[in-house]
Amino acid sequence: MYIDLDRNSSQPLYIQMAQNIRRRIRSGALPPGTRLPTVRELAQQLGVTRLTVHNAYSDLQADGWVEATVGRGTFVSTRQEAAPIPEYGREVSPRSAINDMMRMAQLPGMRSVAMADAASEFYPLREFNRVVDEVLATSGVRALAYTTSQGEPTLRNAIADWVRERGVRVGPDEIIVTSGVTQGLALIAQILTQPGDVVLVEHPTYLGTLNVLENQGLRSISVPVDDEGIMVEVLESLIFSHRPRFIYTIPVFHNPTGVCLSAQRRAALLELVERHRVPLVEDDIYSQLVYEGSIPPALIVDDCSGMVLHVSSFSKSLLPGMRIGYVVAPPPLISRLSAAKQANDLCSPALNQQAMALFLQRGVLAQHLRRTLPRYRERRDVLLDAMAQYFPATLRWTTPSGGFSVWVELPLGVSATDLYLAAIERRVAFAPGDVFFAMPSARSYMRLAFSAQPPETLSEIAQVLGELLHIQTHRRKVAMPETTDWVPLV
Ligand SMILES: Cc1ncc(COP(=O)(O)O)c(C=O)c1O
Repeated sequence: MYIDLDRNSSQPLYIQMAQNIRRRIRSGALPPGTRLPTVRELAQQLGVTRLTVHNAYSDLQADGWVEATVGRGTFVSTRQEAAPIPEYGREVSPRSAINDMMRMAQLPGMRSVAMADAASEFYPLREFNRVVDEVLATSGVRALAYTTSQGEPTLRNAIADWVRERGVRVGPDEIIVTSGVTQGLALIAQILTQPGDVVLVEHPTYLGTLNVLENQGLRSISVPVDDEGIMVEVLESLIFSHRPRFIYTIPVFHNPTGVCLSAQRRAALLELVERHRVPLVEDDIYSQLVYEGSIPPALIVDDCSGMVLHVSSFSKSLLPGMRIGYVVAPPPLISRLSAAKQANDLCSPALNQQAMALFLQRGVLAQHLRRTLPRYRERRDVLLDAMAQYFPATLRWTTPSGGFSVWVELPLGVSATDLYLAAIERRVAFAPGDVFFAMPSARSYMRLAFSAQPPETLSEIAQVLGELLHIQTHRRKVAMPETTDWVPLV
């Protein structure tokens, strides 16, 4: 099948392919039941990667244009009435990996450890219903009107009480409510940077942050992470050479590696940012999800310089769809962030803010965590046990004591993309490590997020991945290397 692809276009090749095939299906050139070429055949014919073809087919499948059957191939759907999602206006983000992962995770029958999400079966629906009813009954239309850009005072007070448990002693004036960590970071980037500026990020780091920075025309320069967190000893020379506008770090249960910043590095990091007067943004989103041991205090607790901005949200601990997050910072910065928020979306919904305030005041969140943490811990243990049972003994991975992610270093010569495509064929999705790096990485990795699958599925996933890893490791016949750019916990 010949498809004319414009390699100079800003539109990704997989979207051009999907559009072309959709047009042919719609015109009748590819009638229902037609078998499409295999991913390998089409990739070879068109001189593109298999991932490109695979993404195009997944797009078509997600929209109902084609159907895939394991072992038989991909066919034009016989149920065309289910298909007609218009192709114009489709969103193409510069890094479409999150979208791809979400799409893959939602394909029928897919067993996915690709997204580090709270388990939807744990969502406290009844409690949510109850607090929303109460807010509407007591606040009436006020809950549905615009509110202040900085956020509802009741919620900021409740957040001040909540972060005090983490040792953060601030008043409501030092807090702004945001639409999740994502908006908090975007606002911080907006007030601290100009397009073209450099931001230092971890290597690897959370993909969504790379999106936010890229979207604002910023350059991300990476600082390596090892099993004690960000390598502070490398930071100083990067500060000298790149003059970053800020440093972004996830010090507790880092995504994607799951590691925590050590006490020694923590002190060194604080000393460094104070000495160089570089703002440090700490993303604390996973700190409540602790399965054993104690967690390091938030960096902002011991910040004497006013350089640390603390960002977090309730997306992982409670409900991602509420879109309630917050930034803790000195009042002058909060004023600038509030002005940026006003220009951005005026305010976060008052209803959600008031509901979240009740969740915090009534202790519902604390109770929810008491209920869910043992279940997340069980999921982590099941996955780690199954990995130990099924994965090749030479592989290395992290053993997180909190958060949602296990980071796996693949054997030299095994490509995360090949493994990903083979896994998708077996109805298993994970996050290929490449998407978490701002700069190329010498090695291949995968992130397995255990939070959103029941234990028995996690075992099956580990078994499938173990089989594929054995096959691919055997194929490459390459010994484990002596050195790596990431030194995981074992
Ligand atoms: C480290 C980190 N920060 C932020 C986010 C997104 O958070 P929010 O839903 O609060 O925007 C995620 C989601 O995976 C994350 O892993």
